[in-house]
Parts: sequence; C-alpha cells; structure tokens
Amino acid sequence: MAEKIILLPGDGIGPEVTEQARLVLEKAGAKAGLSFEFEEELIGGCSIDAHGTPLREEVIEKCRGSRSVLLGAVGGPKWDDMPVDVRPEKGLLAIRKALGLFANLRPAQVMPALVNASALRPEIVEGVDMLVVRELTGGIYFGEPRGRSGEKGNRSAVNAMVYDEHEVARITRVAFEQARLRRHHVTHVHKANVLDVSQLWMEVVDEVAKEYPDVELAHQLVDSCAMLLVQEPKRFDVIVTGNLFGDILSDEAAMITGSLGMLPSASLAEGGFGLFEPVHGSAPDIAGKDLANPLAAIQSAAMLLETAFGAKEAAGAIRKAVTDVLDAGHRSGDLILPGESRETVGCKRMGELVLEALA
Ligand code: IPM
Ligand code: MN
Repeated sequence: MAEKIILLPGDGIGPEVTEQARLVLEKAGAKAGLSFEFEEELIGGCSIDAHGTPLREEVIEKCRGSRSVLLGAVGGPKWDDMPVDVRPEKGLLAIRKALGLFANLRPAQVMPALVNASALRPEIVEGVDMLVVRELTGGIYFGEPRGRSGEKGNRSAVNAMVYDEHEVARITRVAFEQARLRRHHVTHVHKANVLDVSQLWMEVVDEVAKEYPDVELAHQLVDSCAMLLVQEPKRFDVIVTGNLFGDILSDEAAMITGSLGMLPSASLAEGGFGLFEPVHGSAPDIAGKDLANPLAAIQSAAMLLETAFGAKEAAGAIRKAVTDVLDAGHRSGDLILPGESRETVGCKRMGELVLEALA
C-alpha cells in the first residue's frame, strides 16, 4: 500500500528543492520496499496569493491524514510588508502549532569534502557533528500577550516568552534520548542570568537529567554559546534550547558546516508524526533560476525515511549518495568559495547526480 506524503513546496526555491527531494525519496524508498503517494498543497506566500491565507484548515487536515509532510520554504519580498499575522511565515508557525510539532531536530555535520567551504579554519570545523534540539511550538513565537498598540509617536509592541514545565520537560527528554544515540552529552542553552523563563528551564532540565545518569549535562548562557560555537564547535554534541535561541543558534551551527544549503531538519510531534524541511529559507534572489542547492531538502527526505518509516538503511544510502557526489567534486553555487574556479552544478543536476549515486 502506498504511503501518503504531503508535499508543501511553498515559495522561492522551495518548489525546486522539494522536487529533487521527492525524486530521491521515491527512489530510496522503493529500495526499502516503500511506495509513496504524494499530494501537493500550498503554504506561505503562494497560498496567500491563491486563497488569501498562508495556510488553509483543509491543508492541515490533509497533513493529519498523511504519514509525513515534506516542506520546502516560505516567504519572499512580495509579502514582506504584510503584518505578521498574515505573512507567509505565519503558515509555517500555524502548521507547527496545529500538528503539535514541538521537537525540531537540526543536525549540523561538517562533511569532509566541505571542510574548506566553511568560513572558519579547517582545523576548527573538521569533525564537527552536533544536533540542535529546538523547542518549536512555544516560547516567544507564540506567547501571549502579543501585538502592537498606539499611534505614531506613541507606538509600542509586546511579545512574551512563555513556557510551562511540561513543554520544557518533553523537549528535554527528546534531547537526552538523542544524546543516547550519539556522544551522550547535552548542552542546555539559556539566559538564566536575566530571564525567569530560563530559570524555569534550568530547574526542569536538571530534574529531567536525573532520569539520564549516563548522559552528561552542561548549562551554557546563550551569548557565550554563540561565541563558543565559532571558537570551538567540536565541544557540542546535543544542544537543547527554546524556540528563539534555537532559531538563531541553528543558523549559526549551519554556517559552521559551510552552507545553510546543506542542513535538513525534522519537526516531530508526540507519537512521532513529523514534518521535514531544509533549514534554509526561500532564497528569493535565486528562485526559479535552477541555482539552489537541493541537498538540504534531499537530506530532509533521508530524515523522513529514517524517522517516519524506520528505514535507516535507505536514509543512510541517501546520505552516502550525497557524500559521494560532493567527494566527486560537484558543488552548487553556495558551496563554491570566493576565487575558486569550479563549475557550478544547478539544482536539477545536483538532484540527478544524487539519484545516479543512489543507483
Ligand atoms: C526557521 C525559520 C522560521 C522560524 C521562520 C521562517 C518563521 O527561520 O524555520 O528557522 O523562525 O522558525
Ligand atoms: Mn530560522
């Protein structure tokens, strides 16, 4: 029986990279005895244009009725002047909330072939392998009160960082479980010298940590964590943190590996249902030009196979194919260093190369 996957390509480069990811997912899945039935829906700016809203209730329902969701990216200059509540990004926030996708896993690994693509020195980035576990459905992204008031000359705005202990405990457990599959180390990132919310996180993380005596825990202030990430990224195994800090630090972690264009992510609900998407955005400047790097989307497909279907081998085969393509010297534009003379591989060709390497 075919497994239902909802594709939400979204805006900008979303459609091009999602298409390559779909082809790779199909091929790698078939090898694992899986067949998929894909259904495509709108999210973000394209949904605003077609339906006046970034995410329709019926799309959420379709996702609920599926095995997994593969998403591209949302947003673009066309919708940049719109108020936050009707912007493309709101579609992404709404789907995370509606599907209860509280656990966002963002692995950042430096591939040997890309050691020189990082802005940091090779000896600093070589061997970096970390996982940012970002809380995704709470914190300042969703807290109340929120909004703007007053007229010009008297304007103010408020957002609130709100967490309850249940939310902190469940994301902390995800982080510790992940650490058990890796190097048994968790860094909790916070701002407890200023924020009450962070003090609650400290307490709850410490309590949960007692359930995992085999995993080492460190607490790190977010500002010094930002510094340590570029100074000594190898010290990190699993990082667990709230929504806003996780958003910022995962971009930083991604850049350490060479390009935001490489990093996949999984957003999981209790019970394991997941949405998979590249960490990068819609890159409107290169959209539709066949210049995007599809490898983050393709590796998101690998995470989908592994997480939603337990197809570890198929996921590993995708990762190996990606590594092989890079080892053979193929590079999309984002991976080419200034001054380096290499032929740029387009989005579609990069997808083909991965498919060939899978064969
Ligand atoms: C991300 C993105 C989103 C976020 C935006 C597009 C709403 O930056 O997934 O990291 O802030 O969560
Ligand atoms: Mn982000």
